[in-house]
Amino acid sequence: MAGKHYLIAYPGGSLSVSPQIPGDKSITHRAIMLSAISEGTSRIKGFLKSDDCLATINALSKMGVQTNLSSEGHLLVQGVGINGLRAPQEEISLGNSGTAMRLLSGLLCAQTFDSILTGDSSLLQRPMDRIREPLEQMGAGIRLTKKGTAPINIEGGRILRGITYTLPNASAQVKSALLLAALYTNEKTTLTEEVVTRDHTERMLETFSYPIAYSNQEVSIQGGSSLRATEIEIPRDISSAAFFILGALISEGSKIILKGIGINPTRVGVLSILKMMGGQIQINNKRALGNEFIADISVMSSTLHGISIPEDLVSIAIDEFPCIFIAAAVAKGKTVLKNAAELRIKESDRIQVMAAGLHACGIQVETLEDGLVIHGGKLKGGNINAEGDHRVAMAFTMASLAASEKIHISDTRNISTSFPEFVKYACSSGIQIEIGS
Ligand code: S3P
Repeated sequence: MAGKHYLIAYPGGSLSVSPQIPGDKSITHRAIMLSAISEGTSRIKGFLKSDDCLATINALSKMGVQTNLSSEGHLLVQGVGINGLRAPQEEISLGNSGTAMRLLSGLLCAQTFDSILTGDSSLLQRPMDRIREPLEQMGAGIRLTKKGTAPINIEGGRILRGITYTLPNASAQVKSALLLAALYTNEKTTLTEEVVTRDHTERMLETFSYPIAYSNQEVSIQGGSSLRATEIEIPRDISSAAFFILGALISEGSKIILKGIGINPTRVGVLSILKMMGGQIQINNKRALGNEFIADISVMSSTLHGISIPEDLVSIAIDEFPCIFIAAAVAKGKTVLKNAAELRIKESDRIQVMAAGLHACGIQVETLEDGLVIHGGKLKGGNINAEGDHRVAMAFTMASLAASEKIHISDTRNISTSFPEFVKYACSSGIQIEIGS
């Protein structure tokens, strides 16, 4: 369809040039939001300049937060303090970004002013009841559509209270929304998770000198303190690195080293899963970067085999299943994923969209309500509809390395939501790609 972009990835090739992976999307969103409500000017080095993160910057600028770039290209955010946000003059569109929408809902329901959050057609279909329900328990005023989706109408001027809450879904976005709202209470909020999810918000609150206590599956925070501006360096995004890790594993004669990649334990499920499948992946030079951890990841062409994916790895690999499914498609034998119903409510229904794409490429798949069974085989080529999902588009681009015919992928525009330079890096690493609109 015109305007949605397509790309054609030609079969074969190998990855020999190691790309510089951009900054982590989740961590960039949090760094911008916490900088905005802290006292003083924060400097964010290595921030991700993608559509999703720009949506967060734009939202905050509508509420009076000024940002600019330093001469070295760092993002400088002039914090307005915890009570310094101003009423936006219009509704705020967050494009494709679920993280921006859910986290900002937590922040905005604690303000003195009303606000409306909206987004693109994908974001308007994603469930927002999961934030409304616990935020209402805290005293927030939130109105959604009858289907429980955005636009989100948030009523300001509410007094929020602390809650003790067990998260019914494995969602770091919900957890983070509640933590942001909790800053504005005079009480303690305690959140318990049945399943571990990414802990970047907890770590970053500490970076901004905000008192917080957290362990594996529980976090407690007392409202009423302030955040101190700081300097942050963002790790490179393991979710973006995953595409190149996949590409190197499935193409003959490949060897790459991806440097400075975030290896927070709540994000590394993809590495464990691909290693279990026979992937030759080495994690070297582990080091701390602020309150996060990074490492250099080297990857070599490998012969992969199917596995039953351990359920405890699902939530810590949640964004990497498009990559893992392509690996499974070229692996020997069967791969089974269960307990991953969250995949159905991402930027697309990733179970259905990936299954359709794999089927179009000649791979036998069986969809489950909460997962997928993939019978590894010969990946041909075919016409794929990415349905506006950036990660589906990038995963099928990488699949071309192991395909026997070209892969035509439509609706690829949203690659720019998380990895604007993906096509450039994929081409210079060794993939032949044609783009059009
Ligand atoms: C994110 C959390 C995950 C993930 C998303 C980013 C975050 O969503 O899929 O891409 O930054 O907190 P859920 O928390 O809804 O699982």
